[in-house]
Amino acid sequence: MSDPSSRIWRVAVIGAGAVVQRSHIPNFQALPNAKVVAVCDINPERARQVAQAAGIPGVYTDYQTLLAEVRPEIVVVATPNIFHKPMTLAALEAGAHVLCEKPLALTAADAVEMLERAREVGRVLTVGTHYRWSAPMRAAKAHIDGGFCGEIYAARTVWHRRAGIPGFGSWFTRQELAGGGALLDIGIHALDRALYLMGYPQPLTVTGATYAKLGPQGLGMGGWGADRLAPEAGGRFDVDDLAWGMVRLDSGAVLILQVSWAVHMAPEFVTEIFGDRGGLRVGHPNSVELFTTQHGQLITGESQVPRQEESSYTAMVRDLLRYLEGDTSARIITPEEALNAVRIIEGIQRSAESGREVVLAR
Ligand SMILES: NC(=O)c1ccc[n+]([C@@H]2O[C@H](COP(=O)([O-])OP(=O)(O)OC[C@H]3O[C@@H](n4cnc5c(N)ncnc54)[C@H](O)[C@@H]3O)[C@@H](O)[C@H]2O)c1
Repeated sequence: MSDPSSRIWRVAVIGAGAVVQRSHIPNFQALPNAKVVAVCDINPERARQVAQAAGIPGVYTDYQTLLAEVRPEIVVVATPNIFHKPMTLAALEAGAHVLCEKPLALTAADAVEMLERAREVGRVLTVGTHYRWSAPMRAAKAHIDGGFCGEIYAARTVWHRRAGIPGFGSWFTRQELAGGGALLDIGIHALDRALYLMGYPQPLTVTGATYAKLGPQGLGMGGWGADRLAPEAGGRFDVDDLAWGMVRLDSGAVLILQVSWAVHMAPEFVTEIFGDRGGLRVGHPNSVELFTTQHGQLITGESQVPRQEESSYTAMVRDLLRYLEGDTSARIITPEEALNAVRIIEGIQRSAESGREVVLAR
């Protein structure tokens, strides 16, 4: 490994869409030890514009050509979900470390193949579920690691958008490109928040239900993606817009997941951890609520979460570089953790189809 202080990581991004423009390129460009050297998008105009705006020399419309010609050291895969697996495998084969956007894969079998390939080629594979780097999540984790909750036996993690369908007819709402709707898109974040705080226990059984009630009526568009409404407004919507699930974990704990892109209900974004000594709630605003009993009295408190100077996305990317440079204090999201979340998502989808509880293979 070269001297970390003099190292500049050569990064390529596949996909030049919203998340790359708003997060990946600015994040990597802001770090002194990284340079985005190439961008690829099947939309040549977008690839060119994004590259020009950010001063990126390499512009490609075919990711295989980019990998062969540029030989980047880090590849960000930020395309519609269906492409995550082939692009990640190709980047690993080309010798790159990979930051794959969430979800890592559409099925557990695909995720296993990806993490095994990463192991075989000796490269790091991680995913973009960045919320654990947010200030409230860090504070909550500190309380849990310090023993505030005691034994964690239950958790509830919720992300209900009231009107948050990311554009009718965009790839997000089409099964063949997205592989799922709200469950895959934001359920994976909600799951990672809870599982991370719980210490990533293994899922044993899953029961779940998914619905598509508002999307097919043309209701509920807004938020992320709404600004890139596909030309066919009111276009195809054949994914879920609400998913709930219950997971039994090998720690003995139970986890409830509730997510929606659109509901006739107040929005909710919260992760609740229930322990035998204390409980905590992490959500908006920037605080962590704490619940316990002392001296026979019910205590409710608030952890004063420090203001976060950088986004959780930026912190995640900085830690990835520290990790790659051998800093043993740096943490990344492991592909095994990402696989666990994918197994739960797939379990909810299978349970929703069959109407029965699904026992996950060990
Ligand atoms: N971690 C997060 O919080 C977060 C936030 C938003 C999106 N994402 C993820 O990032 C990914 C991209 O989302 P987005 O919002 O940027 O979508 P987007 O639609 O804005 O961008 C996707 C881009 O991929 C390009 N593309 C499609 N097929 C391609 C191909 N074969 N080769 C090269 N480029 C191709 C499209 O032309 C488009 O520019 C998704 O997987 C999404 O789940 C993650």
